[in-house]
Amino acid sequence: MNYRIASIPGDGIGTDVTIEARKVLDTAAAKYGFSLSWQEFDWSCERYAKSGSMMPDDGVEQLSEFDGILLGAVGFPGVPDHVSLWGLLIPLRRAFQQYVNLRPVRLLPGTTSALAGRTADELEMVIVRENSEGEYSAIGGRHNAGRPDEFVLQESVFTRVGVERIIRYAFELARTRSGHVTSATKSNGLIHSMPYWDEIFAEVAARYPDVPAQQCHVDALAARMVQAPDRIDVVVASNLFGDVLSDLAAAVTGGLGMAPSGNINPSGEFPSMFEAVHGSAPDIAGQGIANPVAQILAAAMLLEHLGETVAAQAIRTSVDEVLTAGSARTPDLGGTATTTALGTAVAETLR
Ligand code: NAD
Ligand code: IPM
Ligand code: MN
Repeated sequence: MNYRIASIPGDGIGTDVTIEARKVLDTAAAKYGFSLSWQEFDWSCERYAKSGSMMPDDGVEQLSEFDGILLGAVGFPGVPDHVSLWGLLIPLRRAFQQYVNLRPVRLLPGTTSALAGRTADELEMVIVRENSEGEYSAIGGRHNAGRPDEFVLQESVFTRVGVERIIRYAFELARTRSGHVTSATKSNGLIHSMPYWDEIFAEVAARYPDVPAQQCHVDALAARMVQAPDRIDVVVASNLFGDVLSDLAAAVTGGLGMAPSGNINPSGEFPSMFEAVHGSAPDIAGQGIANPVAQILAAAMLLEHLGETVAAQAIRTSVDEVLTAGSARTPDLGGTATTTALGTAVAETLR
């Protein structure tokens, strides 16, 4: 079997960690009897600086023929974030209807988190983040510019189709893991969007009587995630809430360097796109010290999505082994290993 994979290393540490993830994927392919043909795209803030756009006009078309997309990270000082992200990451998520942003977290060996010491089975959750609408909207604008009563409006869009399908996805996922679903809400503060979200959550929950369901205000849920993570299994959240909760979940399970993410198009009509939860980390870019584990685990999610489940599991096991051995830890894990050393250690273990 041959898979066509598009790689967009992007900006900052995105490029460093994507090389390592590719190394591990190529090793997995050689070992498990499939092949990957890669095509690399230089779409980035650097490209923007040269040409005035993050990707070509037909960027979406170019990617649409691939079986999967591996994305580094987007965004770098010099280009405003809303320009770079709305010029690349967000349009791809929307064009390919990657309406699920799946962000699994699990306590990994070698973590230095506040929860280190708890066992992995106490701390395994997955965030199902709505990835195509909600608070991430371009609707709105500045009014009364330059006057004392100047203001901006930022609209949110919650469609019945959009809310229902993400909640359904969460229930289906919970069912496969005999788990339960927690909906992140904020219907005490947001009086249109979140009551609507809650209403649809209740409707969908009623169709899954075998799956326990609860809702929790997102602020309280944030606290629970740190203090009682064992009470959380599948979290379903809107675009913004899911974004915030996924960095929090990453932090409590080992840091941003360890958390993978998939932008999934469940119908399979369009390619899905895999990336770390973290960004381009300009503060450590170019130093060769970024932790590549998040991107390597994102690459494993890509394989899982392609149906190469044995290879995907082997990558996760190799990551666990390397972290347990502790011989190749990057500075965020309290070690002195380089990005390349940790990536190579995972690849060697896998081989
Ligand atoms: P960030 O995730 O890039 O960094 C936050 C902190 O975590 C930094 O101190 C960084 O050094 C650390 N960190 C992140 N990943 C790490 C890793 N693999 N190893 C070790 N340390 C790591 O978040 P930010 O600083 O808010 O954003 C930087 C840029 O990235 C911005 O332009 C932002 O918009 C963009 N961003 C892009 C994506 C994406 O493309 N998916 C995601 C998040 C942020
Ligand atoms: C993420 C990132 C993006 C998001 C930003 C960079 C637009 O934070 O993938 O989590 O909020 O979706
Ligand atoms: Mn984020």
